[in-house]
Amino acid sequence: MRPEVAPAHLFLPGPTPVPADVALAQALPMVDHRGDAFGALMADLLPRLARLFGTAGGVAVLPASGTGGLEAALVNLFSPGERVLAVVAGAFGARWAEMAADLGLVVDRLEVAWGEAASPSAVAGRVADQPYAGVLLTQNETSTGVLQDVESLAAAVRAQAPETLVAVDAVSGFPAVALPMDAWGVDLVVAGSQKAFALPPGLALVAVGERARQAVEASGRRRAYFDLRPYLRGDLPYTAPVGLWYALERSLARLEGEGAERRERRHRLVARMVREGARALGLRPLAREEVASPTVTALTLPEGVEPAAVRAAAGRLGAAFAGGMGPLRKVAVRVGHVGAVGPLDAVAAVAALEAALAEVRGQPADGAAAAAAVRAWRGGAADGLEAAGQRKEGART
Ligand SMILES: Cc1ncc(COP(=O)(O)O)c(C=O)c1O
Repeated sequence: MRPEVAPAHLFLPGPTPVPADVALAQALPMVDHRGDAFGALMADLLPRLARLFGTAGGVAVLPASGTGGLEAALVNLFSPGERVLAVVAGAFGARWAEMAADLGLVVDRLEVAWGEAASPSAVAGRVADQPYAGVLLTQNETSTGVLQDVESLAAAVRAQAPETLVAVDAVSGFPAVALPMDAWGVDLVVAGSQKAFALPPGLALVAVGERARQAVEASGRRRAYFDLRPYLRGDLPYTAPVGLWYALERSLARLEGEGAERRERRHRLVARMVREGARALGLRPLAREEVASPTVTALTLPEGVEPAAVRAAAGRLGAAFAGGMGPLRKVAVRVGHVGAVGPLDAVAAVAALEAALAEVRGQPADGAAAAAAVRAWRGGAADGLEAAGQRKEGART
């Protein structure tokens, strides 16, 4: 399908809708990435990014998707033969663990059931038993829709193994969900442009705390394209995707204007609306309420309903949902609600889901999902998640 006739509404955990001012910023005239104008842009954005991540260290803005940032984390922090503990609670945790092994690290896995969050005491037990150079965490497991308690997990590592570095894949969660890395004792965080930054794909943001920066500089491992050292000294080793940087400035302005707390409340409200709307259709969120992700919801479908058929029907209506991953491929769809999304997007998402399900099952749709989402909106406002009807800076306009 040509892009201009592709579904208009992205209910994906990335890429997400890009606000018009952010998209338009990319059309500003091209400049020399080695010239003064771009230098000034970098000098403005890098400290602002460090503040957003809550670190006194630095942020490398890499021309890569999120996975490039994860590879950069591994090759800069660790050397072949070093042992790391990977906390694996779904497909993305597994991928990072496999990448670490492919890059020559000795990887022990702490397996967590799909749909569950990792327990800090289990992590504490593992790092107390065996010395690790690092622990690899996933803030928001996009395959299951589970938010991990990074603060407690990092604290558990710090308490048992103060020397062990904590690296977090926050590609699908940050900055929708706060992760003040220095305050939480997190050494490195990777985010991706096409998720909570509400930017087009193409930038990996790697925030490196002071301790991790020392490890990056001290490491004798040979590195190439993903060598973070020049970035952390404030240099730009390769041609920057200038248009994406312009858009990043707009995205940051929006994020700063909204603030971390309001942003997290907005995402939690929208997520709750999606879950309630889905439940009204008889769909089951895989994650328990206590660990449910503010940015993505994995829903198991009734028996005999094919996820591919539901997604195809939704596509005909103009809505894009994500498929299930791994063991959930044949039984689940995933609804993304991250970035420039607001309550009305949740209503639209569940209405589209209801229409698609009705088409697949040959049954009427009575608007139950949208009604349930609206009830959740009003209940969320009562719980202080967001004042009903109040428009947020980051919401889609
Ligand atoms: C948690 C997580 N990690 C890593 C990735 C990979 O990011 P990318 O596709 O931008 O390389 C994703 C993508 O959805 C993700 O959700």
